[in-house]
Amino acid sequence: MSKRVGTWLYQNGGGDVIEKRITAKLEEREIRVLNGLNLRNAFAKKGRIVCNGHIMEELDLFFSYNAGQQTQYQMYLYEAISRVIPTINNYQAFALTEDKFKTNHILRQNGIVTPDYKLYHRDDVTELKKILNLWGGKMVYKPTDGWGGVGLVKIENEQALEMIIPFLNQTDIRYFYVERLIDYDNSDWRIDIVNGKFIASYGRKAGNGDWRTNISSGGSIIFREPNDEVVNLALKATQVTGLEIAGVDIIYDREKEEYVVLEVNGIPAFATPEQEKMGLNFNDKKIDAIVELISEKV
Ligand SMILES: Nc1ncnc2c1ncn2[C@@H]1O[C@H](COP(=O)(O)OP(=O)(O)O)[C@@H](O)[C@H]1O
Ligand SMILES: [Mg+2]
Repeated sequence: MSKRVGTWLYQNGGGDVIEKRITAKLEEREIRVLNGLNLRNAFAKKGRIVCNGHIMEELDLFFSYNAGQQTQYQMYLYEAISRVIPTINNYQAFALTEDKFKTNHILRQNGIVTPDYKLYHRDDVTELKKILNLWGGKMVYKPTDGWGGVGLVKIENEQALEMIIPFLNQTDIRYFYVERLIDYDNSDWRIDIVNGKFIASYGRKAGNGDWRTNISSGGSIIFREPNDEVVNLALKATQVTGLEIAGVDIIYDREKEEYVVLEVNGIPAFATPEQEKMGLNFNDKKIDAIVELISEKV
């Protein structure tokens, strides 16, 4: 019997076209593809998770690639499915990289340079003042599960800290996660890795007046030649997190004169049609590597 793979890919920004291309290439290899398996529509009973009429546990693999729409319910089912069939990314690594603290923590344990960080219980808010001084008066508050630069707060003096504390106290967060503010030129590298191999290198620069490089915060794409240092750093960070597909964000610390891994993304976007027109042309290579990866795993 031929192998069957279920997928759920983002459809905006050219994702629909990527989905078609991946599907065609898998079918060339006699792998049947069921697209659109949005776990939002799934339910579980009698030892099975059913999505759009298909039993998830009977698939040979589930490929989940939809960053914007992942809800707690979907993550919950993703985990349950991953206990029975292979998923890409594997759930464990994906869940890890959804959390900024846990990711930074494990990268550090493995000797990878990341921003200095601290995690505190919410009651230890006075500690934030000490650490602000220790870090030269500058830090970044980050929600551990955020994306797109949303919710990040740059704290550059004690007054700014005094202002944010009452706000934080009103929320129901259990802890504070803060990082040292890295002195960089407001641009970054995004290194794409699939199946332990380098796929692409590009970058982003922050929009006018912003310090965050996220496109959704006004940043824009820049072309960036890879160098051995950033590529090896990205390969190592990917390996430590255990992701099969990763986009590693790296910035250059001007003060310490070293590269720093900021983030490891489990669903790095393909180039959009507009970006492809600009000359960002890694989609073919990435599609081929993903098709190869899926073929290996089923
Ligand atoms: N410690 C830091 N020092 C300096 N800039 C940072 C730091 N952390 C994040 N940034 C900036 O903010 C952006 C968003 O932060 P990031 O941790 O990647 O969260 P998100 O998941 O929202 O993208 C980064 O791309 C970078 O431009
Ligand atoms: Mg980021």
